[in-house]
Amino acid sequence: MNVLVTGGAGYIGSHTVVELINARHQVIVVDDLSNARIDVLDRIEEICGRRPEFYQMDCADKNRLQQVFIHHRIDAVIHFAGFKAVGESVKKPLAYYRNNLDSTMTLLEVMEEFGCRKLVFSSSATVYGPDNPHPYKESMPAVCSASPYGWTKVMIERILKDYATAHPNFCAVLLRYFNPIGAHVSGLLGDDPNGIPNNLMPYIGRVAGGKLERLTIFGGDYPTPDGTCQRDYLHVVDLAIGHLKALEYAESNHGAEAINLGTGKGTSVLELVYAFQKVSGIQVPYVIGPRREGDLPAFWADAEKAKRLLGWEAMYTVEDMCRSTWNFVRKNK
Ligand code: UFG
Repeated sequence: MNVLVTGGAGYIGSHTVVELINARHQVIVVDDLSNARIDVLDRIEEICGRRPEFYQMDCADKNRLQQVFIHHRIDAVIHFAGFKAVGESVKKPLAYYRNNLDSTMTLLEVMEEFGCRKLVFSSSATVYGPDNPHPYKESMPAVCSASPYGWTKVMIERILKDYATAHPNFCAVLLRYFNPIGAHVSGLLGDDPNGIPNNLMPYIGRVAGGKLERLTIFGGDYPTPDGTCQRDYLHVVDLAIGHLKALEYAESNHGAEAINLGTGKGTSVLELVYAFQKVSGIQVPYVIGPRREGDLPAFWADAEKAKRLLGWEAMYTVEDMCRSTWNFVRKNK
């Protein structure tokens, strides 16, 4: 298939591009490089022996996107492009709504124009909001979020559902990611955000690599077994493979289907720190600080629907996630 990957140079996008190329798909990447580096394409080529077609552009640029569809007969789209920092979205809500909604609607208009009917969208567990009990199931109301970033996911899911209702041949798979971490086994691709990381695993990586002094654990008094928050961490390579399974699903189905991608297991912040120390042999100094606003104490996925509909299950362990992160950190000092 000719697969357009928006945001394909980013953390999850680049791992997905590798799996697509390995599965012999023709991959066309669109990325504005606002949160990714151009050398990711060299690294993808080094891993796969093939380079995806690349267009540096904003996918809300309709004229340029139309040109991409004219040059390539796009069979399906995986849509990662979007702003994704939860805290930043609270400070810049308009930028988040404008960017994430505009790019998706422009993409849908161009897909419609060129008769492209298969879309895999990167949604998030944040759409379950604070009120659902965990494990989160897709049948629960997923209509609210704690941040403007999360609201863009809720709104885009709504747009895709309405679009699928109006276009019975269209299929959208709304993949609700839990907490992707880890890196490609080669150590060439991984999560390397600009500036000080917001997310836990890249922060641990910077501390272990000597670039930051210590980790602050946000809250040690949650109602969890060790007092720190629990999340459903999944390996980014498992997540990437989930996108391939979703593409296969979209080939023979219609409508908009929301599917969780998680392991179904919760791991606490302290458990992740200890697992990282164990596999790396490096101490990660930490202090317990105050809670971070908006954090929920604990949640994880009910992963049954992904298994049933996609035949997908997470394969990698938390230790694998830590080992691959450490390998990435060491190779990219
Ligand atoms: N944490 C720390 N210290 C840090 C960073 C994080 O203790 O320096 C803790 C957080 O308090 C939380 C856990 O580590 O308990 C995980 O935090 P992340 O920031 O890595 O991930 P979140 O669960 O907050 O957010 C993730 C995604 C979002 C998505 C959200 C869904 O990053 O995109 O899950 O709820 F919206």
